[in-house]
Amino acid sequence: MTISEILRETVLTALTSLEVALPDPSRIQVTKAADLRFGDFQCNIAMVLAKSLGKNPRDFATELAGALDVKDLCEVSIAGPGFLNFTLKAAAWADLARAQWNSENLSVLPVESPRRIVVDFSAPNVAKPMHVGHIRSTIIGECLSRVARKVGHHVIKDNHLGDWGTQFGMVTWAWKAGVDEKRLEEEPLQELLRLYRTASDASKEDETVREECRAELVKLQQGDAENLAIWTRCVELSRKGLDDIYERLDVTFDHWLGESDYNEALAPLVDRLISEGHARESDGAIGIFSSGSVKPKGDPFKVNRDGEWQDFPMLVKKKDGGFNYATTDIATVEFRVNEWQADELWYVVDFRQGGHFKQLFDVSKRLGYEQSQFVHVSFGTILGKDGKPLKTRAGDLPQLEDVLDDAVKAAQRVVDAKSRLEGDEEKKALAELIGVSSVKFTELSHHRMSDYVFDLDKMVALEGDTAPYLLYSYVRARSIFRKLEGELVLSGENLILEEKAEVHLVRMLSRYSDQIHQVLDDYRPNLLATYLLELARAFHSFFEACPVLKAEGETRESRLILCDLTSKVLKDGLALLAIPVPERM
Ligand code: ARG
Repeated sequence: MTISEILRETVLTALTSLEVALPDPSRIQVTKAADLRFGDFQCNIAMVLAKSLGKNPRDFATELAGALDVKDLCEVSIAGPGFLNFTLKAAAWADLARAQWNSENLSVLPVESPRRIVVDFSAPNVAKPMHVGHIRSTIIGECLSRVARKVGHHVIKDNHLGDWGTQFGMVTWAWKAGVDEKRLEEEPLQELLRLYRTASDASKEDETVREECRAELVKLQQGDAENLAIWTRCVELSRKGLDDIYERLDVTFDHWLGESDYNEALAPLVDRLISEGHARESDGAIGIFSSGSVKPKGDPFKVNRDGEWQDFPMLVKKKDGGFNYATTDIATVEFRVNEWQADELWYVVDFRQGGHFKQLFDVSKRLGYEQSQFVHVSFGTILGKDGKPLKTRAGDLPQLEDVLDDAVKAAQRVVDAKSRLEGDEEKKALAELIGVSSVKFTELSHHRMSDYVFDLDKMVALEGDTAPYLLYSYVRARSIFRKLEGELVLSGENLILEEKAEVHLVRMLSRYSDQIHQVLDDYRPNLLATYLLELARAFHSFFEACPVLKAEGETRESRLILCDLTSKVLKDGLALLAIPVPERM
């Protein structure tokens, strides 16, 4: 039983002893106190029942408090209009800490009903390198997948590569105009980017080039052997480059079903959409229109142009016979629900695609997939120090790899200045770890909907709400065990908490499970990131207030256990953020 369950039982017993009949016992709720200054748990049942009993809520709360048998567990006080506040005693906290220390998964509770969740994230466009905008999707998606798996959901991570879109017409066109085979071998992503830019620049200036690019795409989609061969090589080369980046980020996928994998399904899908009355012709193209079931303002199939509501269909087939991004996404929903039995589909994609996903989710429901839950896990923009979307000096979106390299360089400066490590190789490895972790932590510590400023020096600093601060906290918690060198067997039999700082640390540790679950309430990794920072601060306060190695007997053992437990929770929590820990820094 959890503490709140025990307290609930106690309240129920007390009510019975006062002969208060309770029509519905589920109305007794003991929740964690929102503000730790007012105790650890609270219950509002006195206020709920007072009126029907004809009593003053505060008086009734006092009466109830007198009947509660919780002496060993906590102190009870009355607050506000009649809240019962429970403040756990040190011994009760010690029991919790011991249980958490002995628990293999650090007392993280599993969900009651696990769901099958498909997480669609990263999904870069092949033949263009991943840019800084893909950082957010990749890192948030990986974190949410890990958290969902941690609490027992069945998670399927799918990289829905953009490997079939208009960019291939362009790359193929430029490839035929002159591909640099040597560079393709050495720096495939860079060469593919060059081809893409060549075609993109040329088609901006010249309508015939634009036509030729489009024609190359149509040829590819119709199965032309030469274009297909070029495409296959592009995908393979990109895949290699992507694998390197994902390895560096420690990001993995269960599937790589890209847009091209749904190609065969598109024509029959559109036929079915038409014959079942979901889609119809519009200016030579085929689109899905409003169902008319909601007001125009909330209807994703309407736009307001010059004060007038007009149709804004979801296009599923172009005039030239090609299919759209949306068509592939509908086919993908069908596959994920029918083949993978997805209960939930999460799309970790930039907020700019919000309109597309509203339409997609609406269409999916119309097609009968209303059992599944669809979520657009949206996010904002990364800004430069000037407050505008992050750009390189040349005005392009920075490439993810360059961003990581810059972060590692900044981390190297900090490591050179502050690290106690001796060897250059060790320092280099640490700088890589800190640099990449800093990029991740900065991402995950911000609310996903807010834009944030990408400030390298700030994010690799040892002080502040940063990854290095957390990594250092972990190293500090472990360092004490190195000094002991083997003489240590912790029994955990007698855990005692004497100092305030110890109790506070244990309180923070005990919140771990809740914090993880809360991340999933609104898909917010920043709740876990913030929690870990608070935990680290609680640890440092404890460490400064309470001598560990110089303490004796049970006190010493208890404090060693707190160090050990803190390091385990930090390591585990950081792993959910996809951040590995070093043993020394
Ligand atoms: N490839 C797209 C882009 O880079 C993202 C795809 C997101 N997933 C999806 N199922 N539409 O913008």
